[in-house]
Amino acid sequence: MRAHEHESPARACDGCALTRREVLGRALTALAMTFLAEGLAPNALAALTTQVTGIAGRPAGGNVKAFALPAQDGVQFAKEDELILVRYVGHVYAFALSCPHQNTALRWVDEGRFQCPKHKSKYQPDGTFISGRATRSMDRYAIKLAGTDVEVDLDVLYKNDKQPAEWAAAVVVV
Ligand code: FES
Repeated sequence: MRAHEHESPARACDGCALTRREVLGRALTALAMTFLAEGLAPNALAALTTQVTGIAGRPAGGNVKAFALPAQDGVQFAKEDELILVRYVGHVYAFALSCPHQNTALRWVDEGRFQCPKHKSKYQPDGTFISGRATRSMDRYAIKLAGTDVEVDLDVLYKNDKQPAEWAAAVVVV
């Protein structure tokens, strides 16, 4: 008689469950690696996918608009000011709504990134260009923290191919 024939059904079942756990664990690890390979943390991606809303800015002097500091990761479209406010893994950005290629209004898509509906250029949540006909990342407005608000200067727009240092610095770290 072979050794395994003395094992109780419960013990044999434990073995089965362990195998299933191993398989599930490997699948989840592979999924996490896919997200990380694209530079997106799974939790941040889930939060952004479910938090797409509309907002309106308040005048804050000159052509500056104030917006409440987003409390959590998400994407907010301020259509009146043609900008997109994004909180993403501890960083807040204000982007021009228009695609840097031919000014089509950008959209957020379920895959967890921005995409242009006209020629399909793709951008990461921080505006970094991924692929498509555009030749630069999404344009960023100058932004600063002001109490519980962020203030966005609609007269100051940075392009990452012309002003890379200013573009990189156009962020509020929270
Ligand atoms: S207008 Fe957006 S990729 Fe052409």
